Amino acid sequence: MNTRILKINPLDIDSDIIDEAAGVLRGGGLVAFPTETVYGLGANALRAEAVAKIFGAKQRPLDDPMIVHISRLDDLSSLAREIPPEALKLGQLLWPGPLTMVLEKTDILPDIVTSGLDTVAVRMPSGAVAARLIAAAGVPVAAPSANMFGGPSPTRAQHVMDDLHGRIDMILDGGATEIGIESTVVEFSRGQVAVLRPGGIDMEKLRDILKGTKVVSAEENAVNSPGKYPRHYSPRAKVIIVEEGPQQADKVLAVASETEKQNQSVGVISTTEHAEKYSGLNVKILGSRGDGKTCASRLFHILREFDSEGADIIVTEAICEKGLGLAVMNRLRKAAMA
Ligand code: TXA
Ligand code: MG
Repeated sequence: MNTRILKINPLDIDSDIIDEAAGVLRGGGLVAFPTETVYGLGANALRAEAVAKIFGAKQRPLDDPMIVHISRLDDLSSLAREIPPEALKLGQLLWPGPLTMVLEKTDILPDIVTSGLDTVAVRMPSGAVAARLIAAAGVPVAAPSANMFGGPSPTRAQHVMDDLHGRIDMILDGGATEIGIESTVVEFSRGQVAVLRPGGIDMEKLRDILKGTKVVSAEENAVNSPGKYPRHYSPRAKVIIVEEGPQQADKVLAVASETEKQNQSVGVISTTEHAEKYSGLNVKILGSRGDGKTCASRLFHILREFDSEGADIIVTEAICEKGLGLAVMNRLRKAAMA
């Protein structure tokens, strides 16, 4: 398949390009597009054969359900029934934005979208290209991250090309995504809000908005959690995490020298604070240890860069799990699973 790559400026969107991409979606084709989090691989969510192509292109297992993207709050009622008050509040305050809500589904979607579950994951992205494309398509858009299953998510059009060129119809190249890490996925049960995947909206913000409602982290034990595939977001290189602490930099150096002794190529992911300790090594800087936002925006690009440089081992410092730091460490821990 010939993949068409069209450049689009998110600050000055060309309607002709949006209309063309929307036509491809409506016609059952696959379009990769930037959202504020990562690039998504979109298909018309109302057409089973279009959604099936996503699973094929990504080599994604059929039991891993899709997020359905909408462009207006009004569109929620066609997809989800019995929307709990907490969900309504989160939708009103955080949409459009990096939040995905798992809700009881209506019968409008083919089973393949939700992997046969009774629930559907819905998100309204704030990225300008995504919002315009979904609105123009006039249908809900099923879109997982636009990468091969199990690998690091794509934050630039080049990442999508590296993984999916020749396997999809079109890529809208709107530059690097802003947040760089996927949306926060939440579900609602018995008056609680459970975070299935930490992401672009942090726990502190959810708790602040939902004062009085319990917000719990359900990743570890939820049956339908995205975490049911333990290894995920992984580069080809083996990832080793060195936890925070007074000896962190020394431990990184020890792992790096051990690796080099075995004639393996090593890459180091460092916080800004420790970068100068690793002179002579192949170092990439994630950001300050307390600056989850910057770290999130760089993480997947750095993992992919080390892969393209042929690193065998990536040693990375752990960062503080506050704010977006929690999502960064969640991705790194999954990437490091054997
Ligand atoms: O930021 C994002 O969320 C990006 C952009 C493109 O919107 N999308 C994304 O999709 O990360 P994906 O497919 O890579 O991750 C969605 C996760 C999946 O791991 C899936 O398990 C979970 O959401 N999910 C989808 N439907 C679900 C459901 N009904 N119940 C529980 N989890 C669900
Ligand atoms: Mg994904």
